[in-house]
Amino acid sequence: MAEQEILNVRLGEGDRSVVLLDQSQLPNRVEYRTVTRLPDMVEAIQSLRVRGAPAIGIFAGYCLYVLARQLIEQGLSGPAFLDKLNRQGKVLVSSRPTAVNLAWAVGRLTRRAARMAGAPAEYIVSALGEEARAIRREDEEMCQKIAEHGLSLLKPGDGVLTHCNAGPLATSKYGTALGPILLGHERGIPLKVFADETRPLLQGARLTAWELQQAGVDVTLICDNMASMVMKNGSIQACFVGCDRVAANGDAANKIGTSGVAILARHYGVPFYVLGPTSTIDWTCPDGAHIPIEERDGEEIRSLWYREPMAPAGVKCYNPAFDVTDHTLISGIVTEYGVCRPPFSRSLKKLFETISSK
Ligand code: MRU
Repeated sequence: MAEQEILNVRLGEGDRSVVLLDQSQLPNRVEYRTVTRLPDMVEAIQSLRVRGAPAIGIFAGYCLYVLARQLIEQGLSGPAFLDKLNRQGKVLVSSRPTAVNLAWAVGRLTRRAARMAGAPAEYIVSALGEEARAIRREDEEMCQKIAEHGLSLLKPGDGVLTHCNAGPLATSKYGTALGPILLGHERGIPLKVFADETRPLLQGARLTAWELQQAGVDVTLICDNMASMVMKNGSIQACFVGCDRVAANGDAANKIGTSGVAILARHYGVPFYVLGPTSTIDWTCPDGAHIPIEERDGEEIRSLWYREPMAPAGVKCYNPAFDVTDHTLISGIVTEYGVCRPPFSRSLKKLFETISSK
């Protein structure tokens, strides 16, 4: 694990607030924010102060728990309590559309509350606290297992290309795509990471490079358009990326630009792996065409990171935040259960059966 453990989200004093490490300020400032109100929680997700599919899920779980506590303090109970809780859950879910973990986590809490309908509201709130903490604990366990499975795909000295950020900041511990690297580093296995800077919001430059440098991992930052070069010159033995939603046929949504990396990897014969917990698999989604893709403000492209705008004012921009990598380009999907191989419609179905039988 990183020398200095990063706690991206946690419950505040007396479980009355949620404290988040503001990822929009990294790597220049390590700043924490405390949120207690629903609009500030939504803002934190939309502004990517908390980001990364599993981290958004963990955050949403904590938020709904804190909001539930406020509802009892306002004297709500019974159906009125459940109704308000469900409405607040829906608002949280609507804050970003692509990462399925958000709806998944909110659904876990609202279903738990619904199962306890009739119980005193204090009992329900305490059960929601357990559920929210379980989401985080389970994510840690899943990331640890994903790290082990992912590490089994690498040899000492390998170069790994990654896109966006799927490390501890985006999850609970270890991360998904960065988990095998951090675990390998802990075990003294030499690995080299090439991190795509990841335009337009630079999660690779700001977050992945920062996390790996903090952990002492050999990391080289490249611009997104250099990925072909490093694959061509033999520096890359595998691509490891995270995911925001995996469809039942193996199509995988991740940060915009991921599908381009997969196409390059196919061209150069480099294996391309998607790593994520099973909470990121949307079993109800048949294929990538059904994954909602968030579109963000064009200002992120025109001016956000520049001292002055780098595009003519008012120029049209198209800024999808995610793309879908076709399952035919994916060598394996690594979950806490192991590595699913193509054909994914079969291997993921088997995984679903395994999970459902538990
Ligand atoms: O817009 P972001 O920064 O939330 O996008 C994050 C990603 O695309 C990650 O790769 C994905 O959520 C996996 S995080 C383990």
